[in-house]
Amino acid sequence: MGPDPAPRVLGQPLVELEVVESTNLEARRLAREGRPEGTAVLAARQTGGRGRLGRAWFSPAGNLYLSVVLRPPLPPAHAPQLSLMAGVALAEAIAALAPGVEPRVKWPNDVWLGGRKVAGVLAELETAPGGAIDFVIVGIGVNLVTPVGGFPAELREIATSLQAETGQAPSRDAFARALLRVLEHWYNTLLRDGFEPVRAGWEPCSITRGLPVAVRSAGELLRGVEQGIEPDGALRLRRSDGAVVRVLAGDLEWQRG
Ligand code: BTN
Repeated sequence: MGPDPAPRVLGQPLVELEVVESTNLEARRLAREGRPEGTAVLAARQTGGRGRLGRAWFSPAGNLYLSVVLRPPLPPAHAPQLSLMAGVALAEAIAALAPGVEPRVKWPNDVWLGGRKVAGVLAELETAPGGAIDFVIVGIGVNLVTPVGGFPAELREIATSLQAETGQAPSRDAFARALLRVLEHWYNTLLRDGFEPVRAGWEPCSITRGLPVAVRSAGELLRGVEQGIEPDGALRLRRSDGAVVRVLAGDLEWQRG
């Protein structure tokens, strides 16, 4: 993307906290109070950081924990497109702030660097009584400074940070500002032009494109070769029998290395 102006909506206001259980929970609390789209929560650390699929998100001081309230005029079925959009924005912000790295996206919304996960997105939707979207909290965690040996044992093989990959990391504030700007650009693009530009931004960066993958979805294990993203954000897999299947949500694994 070209140089965009400073964000006009996202991060207005930006609530900065030293410690919080989870910026997603805090942003949800504010959204339920009726705070406007763009309200964002940035914390120095989290005591109960949440990841996808009920997992915990390792949240020591020094990394980035940011959640933004969105109130998109989209049907709830389009909500998964928002987390893919955030993944593309996140990869772009990382590439801009850590020159020389090649961030890759892993469906549905992780960012990987050098074969390890550096960032993740947790998008949480709440609907109004009629069923329309009331708000979506887009929560983003980026490992800025944690050394590989500083992660809990179970993450040490798969997690990394910008500092570990590049020898330096932008400050949390600089990263948050840049991320809000890029996120606003992609959010506006999605609302104005639909999902196609996001899909086109995602596919060349996909870490599993053309590779055999397994996706655990609704208790089922689906295997196939990753064939890209469908116009609605679903993952397209070609099974060994040639059938093409769509996966809307799940946990994707592949043979790394
Ligand atoms: C994942 O990859 O599982 C998603 C991780 C999302 C973590 C971020 S950190 C800021 C926000 N607050 C949370 O509790 N979770 C998200």
